[in-house]
Amino acid sequence: MTTPDPRPLPDRLRMDGRHALVTGAASGLGLAIAEGLLQCGAAVTLLDRDAEELERSAAALAAAGGPISTRCCDVSEPAAVEAAVAAAAQEHGGLHAVFANAGIAGGPSIRSEEGRVYDMDWKTFDGALAVNLIGTLATVRAAARAMRPAGGGSIVVTVSTAGLRADAMVGYGYSASKGALANLVRQAAVDLAPDGIRVNGIAPGPFHTNIGGRGPKDPAVDQAWADTVLLARMGHTQEIQGMALLLASDAASFMTGGVYPVDGGALTGVF
Ligand SMILES: NC(=O)c1ccc[n+]([C@@H]2O[C@H](COP(=O)([O-])OP(=O)(O)OC[C@H]3O[C@@H](n4cnc5c(N)ncnc54)[C@H](O)[C@@H]3O)[C@@H](O)[C@H]2O)c1
Repeated sequence: MTTPDPRPLPDRLRMDGRHALVTGAASGLGLAIAEGLLQCGAAVTLLDRDAEELERSAAALAAAGGPISTRCCDVSEPAAVEAAVAAAAQEHGGLHAVFANAGIAGGPSIRSEEGRVYDMDWKTFDGALAVNLIGTLATVRAAARAMRPAGGGSIVVTVSTAGLRADAMVGYGYSASKGALANLVRQAAVDLAPDGIRVNGIAPGPFHTNIGGRGPKDPAVDQAWADTVLLARMGHTQEIQGMALLLASDAASFMTGGVYPVDGGALTGVF
């Protein structure tokens, strides 16, 4: 777009007539991102490897808007992601925004003996990289391939504050994969700008999700996370929606290559 968009801001933030695909959409941040996009008019494809949760979440989102589609797929298998994203784009007659969001905790933190470098397990480390790094790059590639013929789109990667600085609450697999994603965002932004595809990252601080497991939460662990945040609490998943919508929408037409914290001030480091 070389001339200013004449539409008022609320219209540039709307997603009517747009199709967005979200990976890791059956739970947590992905589910909230999907909900926010639906509420703002988008058709949304939810992609996740957990078929049961995927259908449960799609049903729960029915009131938020629509249409909603689901694709069951493991993002660490690039060929499967490629096929799922291409099929979703075909089903909805295009693909305007993709959230490469699926991710796993990937093993114990360096605060536990098994997470420290002395005893860290290579299989666990590889597992984190397979989902968080390879899975994200596979999603970015599939998204770019689907978007290029239409002249552009928006790709948003869920990074983490743990990818922008050291974090004693996570392990090596998570830290290394998320650190790599911060630079992958910049690399892909440079690569894809000529094709009209914007690439940005969101760096969430600690949010209440199922990343640590679906069981009851340990209040001591939640408190330890809250203690890392300037606003002295964990985030609620709906608090990711504003940044997600902005980056997907035409209101962010001059934004690419950035990684934006949504972290309650955790990156200020003063608490
Ligand atoms: N929760 C936090 O505090 C936090 C902070 C920073 C970044 N993040 C990032 O946010 C993203 C979402 O995590 P969340 O906290 O919502 O966790 P979550 O566990 O609640 O949701 C993650 C979803 O991703 C799916 N998933 C996992 N591996 C997959 C794979 N290989 N293929 C397809 N789907 C897969 C899971 O089935 C699940 O539905 C992750 O990338 C995570 O690293 C989370």
